[in-house]
Amino acid sequence: MNVKSQQTEQLERAKETNGVLRQKRVDRWYPLYHIAAPAGWINDPNGLSFYRGRYQVYFQHHPYSAQWGPMHWGHVSSEDMVTWRREPIALAPSVEADRDGVFSGSAVVGDDGKLYAFYTGHRWRNGVNEDEGNLQVQCLAVSEDGIVFEKRGVVVEGPADLLHFRDPKIWRTGDTWWMIVGACSLENRGELWLYRSSNLTDWAFDRVVFRAPDPDVYMLECPDMFPLGNKWVILYCPMGSKKEGFQARNSHNAGYVVGDWKPGGDFQPLTDYRPLDWGHQFYAPQTFEAPDGRRILFGWMGSFEIPVATQAADAWCGQLTVPRELSLDEKLQLQNRPIAEIERLRVNTQDLGSFELGLNEDRVLLEDAEAYEIELEVDLERTTSERVSLTLGATADGGSTLVAYDDLMHRVVLDRRAATHGDRGHRGAPYDGSKRLRLRILVDRGSIEVFVNDGAESVTSFAFPGEGPRAAVLGSESGTIAVKSLVLHHLRSAWSDS
Ligand code: FRU
Repeated sequence: MNVKSQQTEQLERAKETNGVLRQKRVDRWYPLYHIAAPAGWINDPNGLSFYRGRYQVYFQHHPYSAQWGPMHWGHVSSEDMVTWRREPIALAPSVEADRDGVFSGSAVVGDDGKLYAFYTGHRWRNGVNEDEGNLQVQCLAVSEDGIVFEKRGVVVEGPADLLHFRDPKIWRTGDTWWMIVGACSLENRGELWLYRSSNLTDWAFDRVVFRAPDPDVYMLECPDMFPLGNKWVILYCPMGSKKEGFQARNSHNAGYVVGDWKPGGDFQPLTDYRPLDWGHQFYAPQTFEAPDGRRILFGWMGSFEIPVATQAADAWCGQLTVPRELSLDEKLQLQNRPIAEIERLRVNTQDLGSFELGLNEDRVLLEDAEAYEIELEVDLERTTSERVSLTLGATADGGSTLVAYDDLMHRVVLDRRAATHGDRGHRGAPYDGSKRLRLRILVDRGSIEVFVNDGAESVTSFAFPGEGPRAAVLGSESGTIAVKSLVLHHLRSAWSDS
């Protein structure tokens, strides 16, 4: 069988089985306005691009079950990043180089107007697991419509003895195409290897452009490197960092370093490594440049190690974050906030105005809502409450998730100790001390994304409520709260089909 028909056959098989799995999907926590597969597992966003007038979002996908397995690239597209259309699965393992998985990667539009998707072809050395290491090579697949891809084979081999070597991210600076790949060096250090090309097909090694400052870090997954303002950002997922305070609490964490870089030179870091998001579920972020110049990011919400509640019986697992726009503040900290288009999902807005919440008082904001947004502004100078507490997804069984500004910790926390379903634990973003607290909270059926002070920090986690109505309550604790404004929006579905 030739390469093309093997790919077609694998895609057909995947589509059919995924269709059967779709019939078993349970929607109690299935996202209304976040990207997820129709059924089955997803992880990293891949190949983010704007092509043929549509935003293209691919993602790591196992269409056969709600567990991670041989990776495919799933696909959705959108004209406006508000309403999404499901597209056929784009890539499946079908050649020797990607025998055990079409791993993560990125896509760019070439000078010939075609979409060039670069991904890691993955093989287990022993054919079944990582015990004897991986064989990972960077591969190219080309498409003329973003839907059907032709595999063009391996473009970067890398040294044969590397344990990890994956997740190519491509961009163009001047006339040159650049590719970074995450690597585990022979000394077991996490590095980014930089390659250059003039035609997207022939690649030459340029240099090791970045080495993780933390000696415990042995691999950098899903690297990204892009200009923002007059600086360069390196975004990566360090493997091996030790937990410390509120940092590196997840089994998989993502963060960034800001610095200077010029083609042909080294990357000069100007900052330390810093987490980009402080929640339980934020990994493998990838960015792309929108046609209007905005730098837009999607991250993956999921978990490799701790089982996710949807895996047991709901026939799906994993979703992407909402698209977020990035900027740098004057301290060279990366800010991320939902793109402006997200506001178009709003239906049925309720403006509760400004009010004072008395001592130890609760105010029910919503009796029952699955997908909504809270915009809250609090005057902390006139607030004595120890926490500004939002109890979300509160159900009759006593389950809920707490999102709170904690004046004692000086953090915005997300606490799942009362979760009816799924993993517990709390997380917290540092608070910058501003007297005007602004929280923007996006709640979907199974997730919460908190943006603090216009994206200065974010906290992103799964939250799986119990049965029945899901309430949202604002509460004060041993003090009062001066609410300057409180607006609630219900959010509609982002899908043009189910
Ligand atoms: C990160 C990752 C990538 C890899 C992909 C496999 O989440 O492990 O490094 O390419 O997932 O699904």
